Amino acid sequence: SAARFTLDPAFGIGTVHPRLYGSFVEHLGRCVYSGIYEPGHPDADESGLREDVLALVRELGVTTVRYPGGNFVSGYRWEDSVGPVEQRPRRLEPAWRSTETNEFGLAEFMGFCVKADIEPMMAVNLGTRGVEDAGRLLDYANHPGGTELSDLRAAHGNKEPFGIRMWCLGNEVDGPWQIGHKSAEEYGQVARETANLMKMIDPGLELVVAGSSSFAMPTFGTWESTVLTECYDKVDHVSLHAYYEMKGERPDRDSFLASAVEMERYIEAAIATCDHVGATLKSQKKMMISFDEWNVWHSEHPAPPESRPEDDWPQAPRLLENNYTLTDAVLVGSLMIALLRHADRVTAASLAQLVNVIAPILTEPGGPSWRQTTFFPFAQASKYGRGRVLRVEVDSPTHTTGRFGEVDLLHVTAVHDEQAGTITVFAVNRSLTRELPLEVDLRGLGAVRVVEHLLLTGDDPDARNTLTDPERVTPRTADASAVTGDVLTCTLPPLSWNVVRLA
Ligand code: AHR
Repeated sequence: SAARFTLDPAFGIGTVHPRLYGSFVEHLGRCVYSGIYEPGHPDADESGLREDVLALVRELGVTTVRYPGGNFVSGYRWEDSVGPVEQRPRRLEPAWRSTETNEFGLAEFMGFCVKADIEPMMAVNLGTRGVEDAGRLLDYANHPGGTELSDLRAAHGNKEPFGIRMWCLGNEVDGPWQIGHKSAEEYGQVARETANLMKMIDPGLELVVAGSSSFAMPTFGTWESTVLTECYDKVDHVSLHAYYEMKGERPDRDSFLASAVEMERYIEAAIATCDHVGATLKSQKKMMISFDEWNVWHSEHPAPPESRPEDDWPQAPRLLENNYTLTDAVLVGSLMIALLRHADRVTAASLAQLVNVIAPILTEPGGPSWRQTTFFPFAQASKYGRGRVLRVEVDSPTHTTGRFGEVDLLHVTAVHDEQAGTITVFAVNRSLTRELPLEVDLRGLGAVRVVEHLLLTGDDPDARNTLTDPERVTPRTADASAVTGDVLTCTLPPLSWNVVRLA
């Protein structure tokens, strides 16, 4: 039987914030070195940025980039990363057991943002450092001049302030693996004091307090309520992180493809927790969610850094270099749908990460760069998913999954761009075997036609884009949608990501 829903612009969820299409660059593995930055590469510009990668980043439609970590930020010494490159220290980088040369630092990152037309989202170190250092970094980065640190920035060749608006207060502080891991009470106080100082310096900043590292954290919920009770009026967003993986000897692909069920529960539970704290404090303010690490991450390969010999501190080693499949791409599309379906409260998100490290773009040192399978759903959502998300009530055939029980085969959202007069339906068919007919009642939309139906699918769920076969999985246009009267009918192939554009 067919899946059905109605599209009516009278019923909206919220306007998509451009920051929903953010990503993340961490000093981890080869994300920076031989990822975005590789002096000597044939495509490198005068500052060492790879132009081939910049072109892919622009095509991906990334709006913001979180930097410099991740776990890395909890040991970050920002002053190591500024000033004359030849004077910058090499340091042990304990989070990923690597050597950090500091050749690429804050100013180089800002140069990357300017060239890629990206808004920076900076994290401060609340692991080995704290309140005072956050204020010093803010002074160095954003103050126009006339203080020791802002003048130092000018002396380093950056007279104009960087103007970074969005700041993360540490990273995954709830995780026992984090350098400077804290209890919710301890972190809530440090976050409040840091936020207080940063907003005293610049009340216009937007601050993200660290929420949970995953839905599975035993502290999820109580962490958010304890931390937010301390700092609700000082911060603007709470972060959530989540990675999805196909685990086990006999991978359960149906459950994996339904992971957005868990992501939506996670978001809704976090919103309920924020609103509970807001209600308790009798606050008028609505806390927003910054889902600032999300992706598929198959963690079994490569070997974790702690399994390396003790004296091995490599520079930019190959870490977390997942090579994504078609199945992974369809799930990334579904996770993107989950974020869009909560556009009223999820106003920032970062696909983790941008290049090489669990990333939509892969590179070879000295060699080419190419698009992973997961590149396409993100790029298409960023390109076409601008405007107001419409509320859809889905009636879909279901199947039973091991982890989530009965799950709809159709996962869908729709975005209405009133100015452009377009509506884009983003839809995933979660079935590995069944073609899914779809009927959409377009009442209220007036006369519309199908502009195109873009499709990512294939016969091999494990197909990947590799160095030797970089275009094996690519989207194509399909002749699979039509409007008759005020009904849109589509056919969604098994295991598919679909973008149906109406105007
Ligand atoms: O993105 C990889 C790592 O995942 C980040 O450093 C950390 O914040 C998370 O655990």
